[in-house]
Amino acid sequence: MEQLSRMAFIENQPEDPVELFSNLITAYKTTNPEIPFIPMNIATIDDEFGVLNRSVVYRGLEDGHIIFVTEKNTVKYANLIKDPRTSITFLFEKIEWNGVNSIWQVIVTHS
Ligand SMILES: Cc1cc2nc3c(=O)[nH]c(=O)nc-3n(C[C@H](O)[C@H](O)[C@H](O)COP(=O)(O)O)c2cc1C
Repeated sequence: MEQLSRMAFIENQPEDPVELFSNLITAYKTTNPEIPFIPMNIATIDDEFGVLNRSVVYRGLEDGHIIFVTEKNTVKYANLIKDPRTSITFLFEKIEWNGVNSIWQVIVTHS
């Protein structure tokens, strides 16, 4: 892809996507100090619905892994035990990035 639109162009992008994500989280918290938590949307593979998504609270990064907390009696827990494939999205509606306010979506897929 040589013709990336300006929408997709990330200035000063670190090579490591985890570092970029971590920088975005820091910038989001700094830009929006009033937010009580950071939500994320996580989709799992489900026998009944095919794909099932819901919101959970982002709890942080550990060794490059995105952490969230849930209970063993949830559908997502059973889904992830059976099939660990997932897709997570974050919407950062306002981030001051390189001195400019911008909106970001981050999509994290399982590989
Ligand atoms: C603001 C908000 C935050 C939530 N955070 C979590 C969370 O951190 N962990 C969690 O398991 N469910 C959380 N939930 C509930 C899930 O969205 C979901 O309804 C519930 O976990 C059952 O999902 P499941 O049966 O598909 O696994 C949250 C819901 C809302 C509205």
